[in-house]
Amino acid sequence: MKYHVKDIRQAEEGKRRIEWAEREMPVLRLIRRRFLKEKPLRGVRAGCCLHVTTETANLMITLKAGGAQVTLCASNPLSTQDDVAASLVRHHGIPVFAIKGEDNKTYYDHIQSVIAARPQLTMDDGADVVGILHKEYPDRLPEIIGGTEETTTGVIRLRAMESDGVLGYPIISVNDADTKHLFDNRYGTGQSTIDGIIRATNVLLAGKNVVVAGYGWCGRGVANRAKGMGAHVIVTEIDPTRALEAAMDGFQVMAMARASSVGDIFVTVTGDTSVLRREHFLKMKDGAIVCNSGHFNVEIDIPALKSLSKSTREVRNFVREYVLRSGRRVHLLADGRLVNLSAAEGHPASVMDMSFANQSLSAEYVVKSRSGKIRTEPLQRKVYPVPKDIDREIARLKLQSMGVSIDKLTPEQEKYLSSWQEGT
Ligand code: ADE
Repeated sequence: MKYHVKDIRQAEEGKRRIEWAEREMPVLRLIRRRFLKEKPLRGVRAGCCLHVTTETANLMITLKAGGAQVTLCASNPLSTQDDVAASLVRHHGIPVFAIKGEDNKTYYDHIQSVIAARPQLTMDDGADVVGILHKEYPDRLPEIIGGTEETTTGVIRLRAMESDGVLGYPIISVNDADTKHLFDNRYGTGQSTIDGIIRATNVLLAGKNVVVAGYGWCGRGVANRAKGMGAHVIVTEIDPTRALEAAMDGFQVMAMARASSVGDIFVTVTGDTSVLRREHFLKMKDGAIVCNSGHFNVEIDIPALKSLSKSTREVRNFVREYVLRSGRRVHLLADGRLVNLSAAEGHPASVMDMSFANQSLSAEYVVKSRSGKIRTEPLQRKVYPVPKDIDREIARLKLQSMGVSIDKLTPEQEKYLSSWQEGT
């Protein structure tokens, strides 16, 4: 079996940590148990490009339990947990191509290794496998049954491909499931971003001015968690409705042109490019900390920061100090890559439980739709939402695992909701 990991001798540590995560993933465990019996993915070659974490390991083990032949590479050069990669190879026989800190060439070589396994199902976090398949291997698209996509940024790319008429096979947008973005993006990114900042810097948040760029689900999560830690939170936005929500949620809202001179810590979570740039760095206070929790490392204009600096050095793991010509220091975390996955361990298992339950059930849905095992219209070359019944079932199972029971509509209430005659 071919694979490329940092050090296979780290496998035992990876195994322990994968098992620790599994304890917090009750919904995925239930799915795995059923997959073992029913083998809904029997013989399907699954090419996965995800952050190689303990939670992803549990997803890979579940797909394999369902009968899939899984190959995995990293969806970010800095997010791999090397012990996890080693354990997947040694204990589960899953070919993994991922090394934390790999350079760009190795990153893309690893994606090519996944593509070389001729996937019939793709599972992406950021649409890199889909992108390369379409650009470099268009002749292979007909052999692909379908795919799934984990993140907002990936879904935006896929929708652009669909509207340009070039998308070669159906893809389920896992990100759009309620049990994904309302929890993973909000509570997952919220907590893990703060975790990444603290692990990298050990800075006290209480009393600091934290500037959060972007008030989507991730931005809301970060803003609320920072507030909970006692920070004064400022939100920047380009969308008037979201800016209004942020203001009415109690955050101070202003343009980055102003926020850049008052912030102590800056977090970008917009999904767009050059959110923090030259004019902002020039205004920042001495000692400002800047980091990103959006998918790609484009939100902070690092070339501009470099060109403004007279010197730079690594002052702690994942903290690079840039000394501007004014003598002021700006601290960039994790090279502007996802701070939560680079300097910390990504979202906690309990929230990934729901995201990856969506992934496994969506993979099953795609495969069964093709084979006619469930009654659906044949899936077209489009981006589809996760079927609503899957999304709701995941919420139900998660609540059950938490020991929470909820009310049911009475027959009278059901009737009331479906009638239009009753008024005052
Ligand atoms: N994305 C964010 N957190 C993650 C995690 N723990 N595992 C996989 N993907 C993630």
